[in-house]
Amino acid sequence: MDAHETEKILAARSAARAVRDGMIVGLGTGSTVAHFLTELAERRPQRLRCVATSPGTEAAARRVGLPVEAFDRLERLDLAVDGADQVSPELWLVKGGGGAHAREKVVAAAASRFVVIVGSDKLVEKIVPPIPLELMPFGLIATLRRLSSLGELTRREAPATPDGNVLVDLLGRVDDPAALARELDAVPGVIAHGIFPADLVSEVLIGQPDGSVERRSAARGR
Ligand code: A5P
Repeated sequence: MDAHETEKILAARSAARAVRDGMIVGLGTGSTVAHFLTELAERRPQRLRCVATSPGTEAAARRVGLPVEAFDRLERLDLAVDGADQVSPELWLVKGGGGAHAREKVVAAAASRFVVIVGSDKLVEKIVPPIPLELMPFGLIATLRRLSSLGELTRREAPATPDGNVLVDLLGRVDDPAALARELDAVPGVIAHGIFPADLVSEVLIGQPDGSVERRSAARGR
């Protein structure tokens, strides 16, 4: 098995240990979360309730026997667990390689604890492009024109998101992730971008080549 795959499993296993009986858990999307689903199913917590950030995760969770419900009536989640494409030294994230970042951000923000699980290859000195964007189809060309001042944009060869939106990657330089996040948040038509601020993150679990799991805690005091 690829070394980074083993690291992902280590991080996923560590996160699964944080799930207690009766919790409501947000399930992220991606290959690291796939390991988390397996690990969680093996632990068989009692009275577990889950919401999923993508149809793919929902199907995978059901396959291993995890109960998934719609996320339309719950006010809060106890825990959300998700992977990331990049983790900066300050624990800012880039997510959305799989195009699920809009729902992932909603789930992370609703959770009392947001735990990020990665292999050591996801640690970066500095956040770099691409930054995934989910854009509303209505007014798309006008939105793209407005975004073009931030850098080159490429539309993904991907079907619409489950919410009917379009996936685009922003390839412009990222000098200041906080400033870029603010600029993107201010553009009407941007449903979500893949920059997740450190104050959304409770902790990052990083599988290491020596078989250990490094735990980095973020500032989120919830
Ligand atoms: C999904 O849109 C992404 O945010 C994933 O969480 C992220 O790309 C990490 O995926 P892997 O665990 O497959 O690396």
